[in-house]
Amino acid sequence: KKIVLAYSGGLDTSAIIPWLKENYNAEVIAYVANIGQSQESLNNIEDKAINSGASSCYVIDLRKKFIEEYIYPMLHTGAIYEGNYLLGTAIARPIIAKFQIKLALKLHASAVCHGSTGKGNDQVRFENAYISLAPNLDIIAPWRQWKLQSRQDLLKYLKLKNIHTSVTLKKIYSRDENIWHTSTEGGDLENPWNVAQENCWITTKNLINTPDNPEFLTLVINKGHIISINHKIVNSLDCLNKLNKIGATHGIGRVDIVENRLIGIKSRGCYETPGGTIMKVAIQAIEQLVLDKECVKWKTQIGLEMSYIIYDGKWFTPLRHSLLDAIKCLVDLINGTVIIKLYKGNVIVVQKKSPNSLYSQELATFNEDKSYSHKDAEGFIKILSITSRMRATCNDNNDIS
Ligand code: ARG
Ligand code: SIN
Repeated sequence: KKIVLAYSGGLDTSAIIPWLKENYNAEVIAYVANIGQSQESLNNIEDKAINSGASSCYVIDLRKKFIEEYIYPMLHTGAIYEGNYLLGTAIARPIIAKFQIKLALKLHASAVCHGSTGKGNDQVRFENAYISLAPNLDIIAPWRQWKLQSRQDLLKYLKLKNIHTSVTLKKIYSRDENIWHTSTEGGDLENPWNVAQENCWITTKNLINTPDNPEFLTLVINKGHIISINHKIVNSLDCLNKLNKIGATHGIGRVDIVENRLIGIKSRGCYETPGGTIMKVAIQAIEQLVLDKECVKWKTQIGLEMSYIIYDGKWFTPLRHSLLDAIKCLVDLINGTVIIKLYKGNVIVVQKKSPNSLYSQELATFNEDKSYSHKDAEGFIKILSITSRMRATCNDNNDIS
């Protein structure tokens, strides 16, 4: 019997390996999705997995795929959960799950396993993805089964199994990281009245320590993708890495919010999405030039719908495909150049242009122009207000009183 475990190298999934061997009498294969988590967490991860008892460890570099097939499509729909959260953890779950399933099928494993708790969103996202892709594989969620309760218990269990770890009890926060974002939850953050301490932020700088001079970036966008930074062509991976670095320097992309988890509990999270915040603003700037009123409205609706699809773990569904298809012809119009100013946590668009721009200075000007007659507006308003005029003559019109 073989089990493929989504392994992170952290304490939880390290304890899961011996626990699976003990309780399922199975061979455990560790699977690590490289989606741009810190190098530190990837260092020697194969050795760690083997040392904890895995029979083998597969590290798969999914960074480019993650950006091109998950992050960009999400960004193009404008999906943002409850107005603030750029969905950094949620969008990573489907790709992690998909390649875990692919590996499990290739190795003829009978089960997949993850280290998410029974209280969170991630368990639902992983398992809904597993079931969508391979309904016949068994799913094991140790946090819902074992009696271990705390980090202390996990350390004790590892010791009992004679497995050495470098992990200590010191860790205060629950963290998740990838190339798009880092999330920090738990510890003193559990009380929303507690100020988020500086040590809860890990990638972005405190505004007190950011440069006193603004930095300007010229971004060229082609079909919704940033293809150059300051006139240097970049691929999607280098682009996000670079924007992350510059954004972090200027303290961009921090949010500290309370959100509704899909199981109904509210939770507080501190998220850092420096490069992503820059990308979002830059793409939006071109959209402002290119999309007409009806398209903006339509896109807003798609974005709202998509935010729930991603947050709630419904990536592998016809609805998600349908929404991405719907957005495609709009995304193809998003071409242009944006100059943005980064300063003290702000991303400010200072210049923008597009070959597809609907903007007409001639029409917009407050000065005299020849193509628009002010008098035409009179007829427009007359027709538009027919219903209002009728309503106003009715007896039940109370808005004046
Ligand atoms: N609350 C965020 C979400 O649901 C972040 C979850 C972080 N996950 C974690 N395993 N630490 O998307
Ligand atoms: C977890 O259970 O792994 C963390 C929280 C979440 O999934 O929302």
